[in-house]
Amino acid sequence: MPTANFTEKEVISKLSKLYIPSEIDEMIPLIREINQLKKEKNAVLLGHNYMTPDVFYGVSDIIGDSLYLSKAAAEVDADIILFNGVHFMAETAKILSPHRKVLIADEKAGCSLAESITRDEVKKIKAQYPGVPVVTYVNCSAAVKAETDICCTSANAAQIIEAIDSDTVIFLPDEYLADNMRKLTKKKIISHPGRCMVHEMYTPLDIQITRQRLGGDVTVISHPECSKEVVDYSDFSGSTSQMIDFVKQAPSKNILLITECSMGDNLRMEFPDKYFVSTCQTCPHMKKITLEKIKNSLINETFEILIDEDIIEKARNAVNRMLEISFKK
Ligand code: 13P
Ligand code: SF4
Repeated sequence: MPTANFTEKEVISKLSKLYIPSEIDEMIPLIREINQLKKEKNAVLLGHNYMTPDVFYGVSDIIGDSLYLSKAAAEVDADIILFNGVHFMAETAKILSPHRKVLIADEKAGCSLAESITRDEVKKIKAQYPGVPVVTYVNCSAAVKAETDICCTSANAAQIIEAIDSDTVIFLPDEYLADNMRKLTKKKIISHPGRCMVHEMYTPLDIQITRQRLGGDVTVISHPECSKEVVDYSDFSGSTSQMIDFVKQAPSKNILLITECSMGDNLRMEFPDKYFVSTCQTCPHMKKITLEKIKNSLINETFEILIDEDIIEKARNAVNRMLEISFKK
């Protein structure tokens, strides 16, 4: 598993590439306190790729994309799982580890995609298309997952759609991810008008301007929550971890990441030989997770993720079906 757990010296060295010394002086005592609290409480901290570098490198034990962190949540052996990410991710951890205490440092860390659809809306769509299987992107609530046949993430959406025994699928709630999947499958995809408020901001012009500026010497890597025009203009599109893997083999030294800002910051520290060309959009939800709130969360054991048992049961089937297909040996 990609584990973080860097030494304090390594953390300071990484942070000094982005923050000024006085900021680092404020971060280090908090990082120490959190790492001590983790031991006392037998807690494991999962950190999504969009966490700021202090949270990502300083205190997260396991780091990755939402698929990888779901798998980790199912396998982790700890009394407390604290999810450094957004609410739907912490809910997914609870669905997969229902007997553990799952916390999130700010319960208002939501997601525009998760908020774009309710369980009742899913029921209405199902009634419109009786018998058509429903694939939901994990960026949705536990209650929505409970209405679904199978989940997917941006890392495995095409694989999951192909694995379903039907020529038509309902794919919820991201219309851009659905558009991008239509290019990869012959199946008919019925979608819903949900969008990521971060990735919908990008246009092909962002790419054109950078390509012109650098005389074409740039590798463009986008997340599939972007429009299909943006993805078509990119050299590669994939989940956040797949994007990182592509950086490792990118033909150009110059990289344009079409995704959330903190991922660029984290990668600048990881790949000092690459030049990350700026242009980024901030996810206000991801940015709600701070060191101060993480410390309070561990001290007070808040905010605990609580989900009705029947919802957990139904949602777990959908998430587990995805994990079985994605990680089958
Ligand atoms: P990944 O599954 O690629 O980590 O993305 C999650 C997400 O919220 C992207 O906006
Ligand atoms: Fe949701 Fe977009 Fe933020 Fe990811 S980046 S959590 S999809 S709003």
